[in-house]
Amino acid sequence: MSSSRSKQSFWFLIFVHTVLILTFAAGAATAMRGASVSTVTKATSRASSQVVLHWFRHGDLRLLDNPALIHSSKTAESCVPVFCFDDSVYGNDNRTPDTRAPHSNDRGQLKCGPRRAQFVLDSVQDLRRSLQSRGSALYVAHGKPAQVFQRLVDAWPAVPAADTAAPNGSLLTIVCQREVVREENDAVRAVQSVLRRRFPQAKVQQIWGSTMYELDDLPFATDLANMPDTFTPFRNKVEKNCQIGTPLPVPKQLSLPENFPSALKQGLEYLPTLKELGYTDAQIQQVETHDERGVLHFMVAKQPDSHDCLKDYFETRNGMLGPNYSTKFSPWLAHGNVSPRYVAAQCRKYEEERVENKSTYWVVFELLWRDFCKFFATKHGDAIFYPYGTTERTDRHKPWSTFGRNLQAWQEGRTGYPLVDANMRELVATGFMSNRGRQNVASFLAINLNHDWRCGGDFFESHLLDYDVYSNWVNWCAAAGMTGGRLNRFNISKQSKDYDQHGDYVRHWLPELAKVPNEFVHEPWKMTSFQQMEYECKLGVDYPNPIVPPSRPNPHTDRNNRGRGGHQSKGNNRHGPPDKSRKANASGSNRHQKYEMKSLQPGSFRVKES
Ligand SMILES: Cc1cc2nc3c(=O)[nH]c(=O)nc-3n(C[C@H](O)[C@H](O)[C@H](O)COP(=O)(O)OP(=O)(O)OC[C@H]3O[C@@H](n4cnc5c(N)ncnc54)[C@H](O)[C@@H]3O)c2cc1C
Ligand SMILES: *[C@@H]1O[C@H](CO)[C@@H](O)[C@H](O)[C@H]1NC(C)=O
Ligand SMILES: *[C@@H]1O[C@H](CO)[C@@H](O)[C@H](O)[C@H]1NC(C)=O
Ligand SMILES: *[C@@H]1O[C@H](CO)[C@@H](O)[C@H](O)[C@H]1NC(C)=O
Ligand SMILES: *[C@@H]1O[C@H](CO)[C@@H](O)[C@H](O)[C@H]1NC(C)=O
Repeated sequence: MSSSRSKQSFWFLIFVHTVLILTFAAGAATAMRGASVSTVTKATSRASSQVVLHWFRHGDLRLLDNPALIHSSKTAESCVPVFCFDDSVYGNDNRTPDTRAPHSNDRGQLKCGPRRAQFVLDSVQDLRRSLQSRGSALYVAHGKPAQVFQRLVDAWPAVPAADTAAPNGSLLTIVCQREVVREENDAVRAVQSVLRRRFPQAKVQQIWGSTMYELDDLPFATDLANMPDTFTPFRNKVEKNCQIGTPLPVPKQLSLPENFPSALKQGLEYLPTLKELGYTDAQIQQVETHDERGVLHFMVAKQPDSHDCLKDYFETRNGMLGPNYSTKFSPWLAHGNVSPRYVAAQCRKYEEERVENKSTYWVVFELLWRDFCKFFATKHGDAIFYPYGTTERTDRHKPWSTFGRNLQAWQEGRTGYPLVDANMRELVATGFMSNRGRQNVASFLAINLNHDWRCGGDFFESHLLDYDVYSNWVNWCAAAGMTGGRLNRFNISKQSKDYDQHGDYVRHWLPELAKVPNEFVHEPWKMTSFQQMEYECKLGVDYPNPIVPPSRPNPHTDRNNRGRGGHQSKGNNRHGPPDKSRKANASGSNRHQKYEMKSLQPGSFRVKES
C-alpha cells in the first residue's frame, strides 16, 4: 500500500491513543523479533499442562478489551493465539452463489474483496506484533479452520501420565468470541468435532464480545425474545437500564506453552500474501493503487492528525464528502482493532475534558446502532439473510425482481441517478461509502428497483472495507423493509438536494457531470437536448438515462398500500401477524426521516465506575 499523507486528516483523541498503542507494540516487536519465540517457551513452566488455543476470528483482532482473550488467560497457564485465513472466504474463487441473479453472466460477488483482505492481513500482522511484544506469538495458517485445528491438535504431544487429571479431563481447550450466524457457527461446530476426536471432553468455549453493552446486562430475556425489533424502543430501554462497562485490560498471562510442537513453529512466522490467498494480479494491483478521490486512505496503522471534530459530529454526520463529516472508525471497529467500549470511554473522557453536548453523545448513539445489529441477529439468527427477512412472506405479495441489467447498472454506478451512481462508484473505487450514501443506494435497489436486496448485501460484503456481518445484513434487511420496522422510502432527488446541495459530492465522483449546473446536477434528465449539448453531458451517451422513471412513484414497487411496516412498531415479532393497519410514512418522501433527525433527543450513556 502506498502512503498518501495528504488525505490523512483525521479525528480526535481516540485514534491518537489507539495508534500510540499500536505503534508502541510495533516498536517493541521490532526490538524483540527473533528472540521472542524462544524466550517465551522458556518463560513458562507450571504444573498444569492445560493449554488454550485462542482462536481469533473477525471482529476481535485486538488485545485491549477482548473478553474472550481475558477468558483464555484465566483458563490456562499457557495460550496459543491462532488466526486462520479461511480458504473458503478469501481469494478470487470464493464467491457468493449467483443463483440470486440467474440472468447475469458474472460469477457472483467475491466473498471478500482484495482491499478488505489486505486490511485483515495488516490487522493480523499488527496483532502478531502486539502479541510478540508481550512475549507471546500468533500462529497463522491458510485453510479451513477445522483443518487448521486438526493440524494443531494432531501435533500436540501426548498427555503426560501425571497430567491426565488436568482440569475437566482435557489438555486442550479452544476459546473464541461468540458469533451468532450460520457460517460462523458452522465453523465452530467443525472445529469442536476435530478437537473432540482427540480430547473427548474438550469444548470450544464461546465468549460474548464486540458490543458496547454486555449481552448479560440487557434488560431482556436471555434469548432476547422480548427485545424490540426497532431501534428507538431498544435504545430507550438500554440507556435507561444499562451501563457501558470499563474496557478490559490486556491480559498479563499469554505465554506460549513450553511444549509448543516444533513442527508448528513455522506458523508463528507465516503470513500469506494476497497472491497466496488466491487473488489475481489485477486484484492485487487494485489494492496497491489508492484512488486520490477517496475520503481517507484507510490503513491499519495510519498516522492521524488529531482534529477536534467530535463536538460538531451531530451537525456533520450526514455528510458524504471529505474526511471530517463522520468518524470513519468503522473499518477498525469491524475488524476489532479497536473496541466500541474503548471508543465510548474516550468519548466520556473528551466530554469531561472538553465539552459535552448532543454531538459528543451522538457517536455513542451510532455505536448503539452497531450493538443493535448484533443483538438483532442474536435474536433472529439467519433470518437476516432471508429474502423476506424477519417478516412473513405473505406480507409481501410481489416477489423480488432479479433483473440482471438493473443490478449491473446499480453495481457500476450507471443508474442515471447521480446520487446513487456517485456513491456506488465511490464504493468500488475505495471500499467506503457514507451512511447517508448506504441508506440511499440500498433503498434505491430494494424499493425503486424492487431488486432482491440480498444482491446488494452481497455486493457490499464484497467491497466494503468495514464489512461486518451484522451491521451489513441487518441494515440491508431494514432498508428493504424486511425487519418489520418502519420502511424509509427515500426520494433520491430530495435526498440529493438536502444532503448535496451544491452537487459537490456527485461531481466529485461523476466527471461527466462536471459542467452541469446545480439546477440539473441531481436531475440531469430535466435538461433539454440543447442544455445537454451546452453542458457537455448528453444523456444516453455521456451519462445514462434514468433506468426507472424519476419522480413518479412506481405503482409496482410502491408498497404504501400493502400494509407493510409503516412507522415504528414495537416489538413486532418475526412470527407475529403483520400489522395491516399501519400506513407507510408520507408517500415517497423522506419527511419522517428528516423529522426524526431534527427532533431526536439526545439520550445519555452511563459508564460503569472502574
Ligand atoms: C445498507 C447498509 C449497510 C451497512 N453495512 C455496514 C457494514 O457492513 N459495516 C459497518 O460497520 N457499518 C455498516 N453500515 C452502517 C454505517 O453506514 C457505517 O457504519 C458508517 O457509515 C461508517 O462510517 P463512520 O465510521 O464514519 O460512521 P460514524 O457515523 O462515525 O459512526 C460511528 C460508528 O458507529 C457505527 N454505526 C454507525 N451507523 C451505524 C448503523 N446504521 N448500523 C450499524 N453501525 C453503525 C459504526 O461502527 C461506525 O463506525 C451499513 C449501513 C447501511 C445503510
Ligand atoms: C472446566 O469446567 C468448568 C465448569 O464447566 C468451566 O467453568 C471451566 O472453564 C472449564 N475449564 C476448562 C479448562 O475447560
Ligand atoms: C478537517 O477538519 C480540520 C480541523 O477542523 C481542518 O483543519 C481540515 O482542513 C478539515 N479537512 C477538510 C478536508 O475539510
Ligand atoms: C457542541 O459544542 C461545540 C463547541 O461549543 C459547538 O461548536 C457545537 O455546535 C455543539 N454542537 C451541538 C449539537 O450542540
Ligand atoms: C421527490 O423529490 C423531488 C424534489 O424535491 C420532487 O420534485 C418530487 O415530486 C418528489 N417525488 C415524489 C415521488 O415524491
